[in-house]
Amino acid sequence: MKTFELVAPCHFGLEAVLKREIYDLGYEITLVEDGRVTFEGDAEAICRSNIFLRTAERVLLLVGRFKATTFDELFEGIKALPWESYIPVDGKFWVKKASSIKSKLFSSSDIQSIVKKAIVERLKTKYHVEWFEENGASYPIRVFLLKDEVMVTLDTSGESLHKRGYRTMTSKAPLTETLAAALIMLTPWRKDRIFVDPFCGSGTFPIEAALMAANIAPGMNRNFTAENWTNLIDKKLWYETVEEANDQITTDITVDIQGYDIDGDVVKAARENAKRAGVEHMIHFQQRPVCELHHPKKYGFIITNPPYGERLEDKAALPELYSQIGEAYRGLDAWSMYLITSYDAAEQYIGRKADKNRKIYNGMLKTYFYQFMGPKPPKRKNKCDIRENM
Ligand SMILES: C[S@@+](CC[C@H](N)C(=O)[O-])C[C@H]1O[C@@H](n2cnc3c(N)ncnc32)[C@H](O)[C@@H]1O
Repeated sequence: MKTFELVAPCHFGLEAVLKREIYDLGYEITLVEDGRVTFEGDAEAICRSNIFLRTAERVLLLVGRFKATTFDELFEGIKALPWESYIPVDGKFWVKKASSIKSKLFSSSDIQSIVKKAIVERLKTKYHVEWFEENGASYPIRVFLLKDEVMVTLDTSGESLHKRGYRTMTSKAPLTETLAAALIMLTPWRKDRIFVDPFCGSGTFPIEAALMAANIAPGMNRNFTAENWTNLIDKKLWYETVEEANDQITTDITVDIQGYDIDGDVVKAARENAKRAGVEHMIHFQQRPVCELHHPKKYGFIITNPPYGERLEDKAALPELYSQIGEAYRGLDAWSMYLITSYDAAEQYIGRKADKNRKIYNGMLKTYFYQFMGPKPPKRKNKCDIRENM
């Protein structure tokens, strides 16, 4: 099967998590840059990466990279690429997005129209036609310029991969599903440990945790643009990948995953979202303010995204709220707590300095992922150990 270079964009600061996921899927990583990971894979890799990756924003097929400082160079560079290997004669193609950073060429609309014109010129000579009907499958193109280096890609995903399809109801300031999944993966939480999100909003953290625990692939219930690229990807590869994902699901497991929120309507929405994700039976949602957070067991995890004062009038309530978080946390025995917030006095009011923190951009918002580590539970002795010690 033909090998492609695939580019997976992700949240800035979370490249290592995505790199690990791609590696675990079995593909060779060729480049890690700020906000994206490039890897090699065949047609099946396009299906598998779209369906299985939890932290990638989309999967792009790299058509070419070259340098351009003038529109002529851009036109010639695009025209020199083998577009006929990707876009069939009836393909519908357009530049969905052009972005430019620290480059001489910066007008997105000019870049978009020149790239389209150059592809048309190339395909005219290859297909010996003067006019393209464009009534076949869609081939959206994304172009990135960074320091005059042009990267041209075809978007295999379509809608961003954070749209898993389960979240139709959101709270005021929801986290994206991809960011929530990446943050959980940054912690040592595993499915046999307690998971509590006391500010669950639309339920993103608990739902992503349950999907991981049950091994449900995030892209099982949605469509991808490249499903219609029958010139490059045999339809049966998509069916086989969904079958592979189905075979891996284990929903009959016992987990302790809980989501609380002070707002009853939000809790209702979270429950609906969990139902759509197929994990409703794995999560206990309840309306409860953080000051009433407690749990009788040891060694649990809080992973959460508390309010950070999105509106000015909410800011005044933050010292009291973060003090309540600190108090609730101190009442839990041997727990770990991970919280993402842009509130810069979080540690001060929680009353403890985080063991670690990590800067993460949530869109344009600079946030920190504070990590308060609890002790590890003692290792359970298995039968062999017991016999050895007798
Ligand atoms: C930033 S949002 C969480 C968004 C969530 N991560 C999501 O993806 O939808 C913060 C949530 O905290 C809730 N909240 C505010 N004050 C609270 C309190 N004292 N106790 C519990 N929840 C509270 C709000 O209702 C809101 O849903």
